[in-house]
Amino acid sequence: VPRHARVVVDLDAVSHNVGELIARARGAQLCAVVKADGYGHGAVPVARAALGAGAKWLAVALVEEGAQLREAGITEPILLLSEPSLDSFRDAFDLGLTPTIYHRDALAVAARAAQEGGGRSARWAVHLKVDTGMHRVGMPLTDLRDMAAELYASDPIVLGGVFTHLAVADAPQRPETAEQLERFEVALNMLRDAGIDPGITHVANSAAVIAHPATALDLVRCGISIYGIAPSPGLEAMVDLRPAMSVTAEVSHTLTVSAGDAIGYGLTHRFDVDTRLAVLPVGYADGVPRNLGTLGGEVLLGGVRRPVRGVVTMDQMMVELGPVTDATMVPVHRGDEAVLIGSQPVPAGLHTEGDCSPERSGRGFTSVTASDWAAVMNTIPYEIVCGFSARMPREYL
Ligand SMILES: Cc1ncc(COP(=O)(O)O)c(C=O)c1O
Repeated sequence: VPRHARVVVDLDAVSHNVGELIARARGAQLCAVVKADGYGHGAVPVARAALGAGAKWLAVALVEEGAQLREAGITEPILLLSEPSLDSFRDAFDLGLTPTIYHRDALAVAARAAQEGGGRSARWAVHLKVDTGMHRVGMPLTDLRDMAAELYASDPIVLGGVFTHLAVADAPQRPETAEQLERFEVALNMLRDAGIDPGITHVANSAAVIAHPATALDLVRCGISIYGIAPSPGLEAMVDLRPAMSVTAEVSHTLTVSAGDAIGYGLTHRFDVDTRLAVLPVGYADGVPRNLGTLGGEVLLGGVRRPVRGVVTMDQMMVELGPVTDATMVPVHRGDEAVLIGSQPVPAGLHTEGDCSPERSGRGFTSVTASDWAAVMNTIPYEIVCGFSARMPREYL
């Protein structure tokens, strides 16, 4: 059954972005972060594109996300970014995933899983995660040396790497990134002084590669940037990224409302003049935020940015086309393609009065980005792209 709405993913854009990031990573290897189904883009196709463009590692959050990549035949190293639950270490071992560890009991469980799964000659490389200031997960710096020493003495377990995660790398002016790096360096020196080789060391996420390239070390863990989205608006101009995701839907209905009419659940938006509207067959069950329209979000129709009006419902949303008296309005018909995220060519001789925001590409295209929606929704583009649900078919270019 055809669905007249889709998420389209341009894998050439992923390849381009990976190449761009590798070029900035000062010789470090690139680890493509494809958790959460590749930030909503599709983990397996994105992983293949990233590896094809030179990525050497993949990273996921969950053991089952690693399993999905292995089932697709991907054999490259896969890092679990957080410590798996104690009851999933054996699965992680059997799948050949590289676990992150920061609890002592997890180390013992990992050793047992490796022995049971691989026999006496088993070797399993793990990475230790230290908390240098983000205070989410990771071991305290003061525990690292003892933990590494314990790991060294545990036969089947090998120290493959040590890493930390940065809390404010997307805000380059903040001082805490340098403080975190300094603590990480102290931790590594503590290990080296104890005669322990930390393996590969890594701290950088997308923002760090873009704004603090000296943080690249041995490996950079890039998520949002491989999808062509800057981690924060301030970093957009610093790097040439191409958004991989577009979201489209075909107009399912058009209507005219009279001056004084209000629309949708709650009748939240009332029109002063007779107005043309288009309905799109997508809603919050597909991942369009319910308050997108009430907070000022826009989509593209006929190459023009148009305001979403009323509340987005579970399966449908309404878009204002303009006053019926506007003879220059770019016409929109049932079946026309709306672009929720992405770009459309600007029509020749465009009348921009009904266009809510100034045209910005200047290259004959107008666009609405995940970052635009994020700004309207007071969130980050990560949440927008991850939000498109499985009900939206994914199509790959
Ligand atoms: C530990 C870790 N490293 C790297 C990343 C990738 O971050 P980004 O998508 O900002 O590049 C994440 C994402 O949340 C993470 O948790």
